[in-house]
Amino acid sequence: MKKAIYPGSFDPITNGHMDILIRASKVFDEVIVLVADNASKSHRFNAAQRVEMIEEAIKEFKLSNVKVDSTSGLSVQYAKKVGASHMIRGLRAVSDFEYEFQLAAANEYIDQTIDCVFFMSHNEKAFISSSAVNELYENGVDISKLVPASVLKMYKKK
Ligand code: COA
Repeated sequence: MKKAIYPGSFDPITNGHMDILIRASKVFDEVIVLVADNASKSHRFNAAQRVEMIEEAIKEFKLSNVKVDSTSGLSVQYAKKVGASHMIRGLRAVSDFEYEFQLAAANEYIDQTIDCVFFMSHNEKAFISSSAVNELYENGVDISKLVPASVLKMYKKK
């Protein structure tokens, strides 16, 4: 059984992330979306809220082989613990490559048995980022086409 993790800060998860997740779920038997913290970022939503939004999005998109979890540790160590062989990441533009290259190298240093797999964003999703969604929302722009319904609900609740 091929198991993969899809780690990220997902603050919040967007339709750009969902595009990657849907495609990855067709390649792997099981995918675990892993809410992890990026030490250099301060988060708008706490880990429990991010997990809740993703849980609902998985139901909304009917992804039967996808689960969600969170970690305060290293993503690679989590992958090892749950028996995942691959780590999924998305690439939107050339500018993502340098960061991803370094992250993959750091992860490889930690554990060479976990391989990274990259999916290219679809063109129309390539401009989406979590911070752009946050900024658009704060300035009153309709973000309903950019995020799953669960995310929109959480913004309104906050
Ligand atoms: N669609 C939409 N947005 C995308 C995207 C896509 N396909 N791919 C990337 N992004 C955006 C995210 O929205 C996010 O935007 P933001 O900066 O505005 O928040 C940005 O790209 C990068 O976010 P993400 O992919 O979540 O990565 P990250 O840099 O926030 O976090 C972790 C990366 C969480 C996977 C990494 O920090 C991690 O594994 N942390 C745990 C500790 C660890 O193992 N560190 C590695 C060894 S040092």
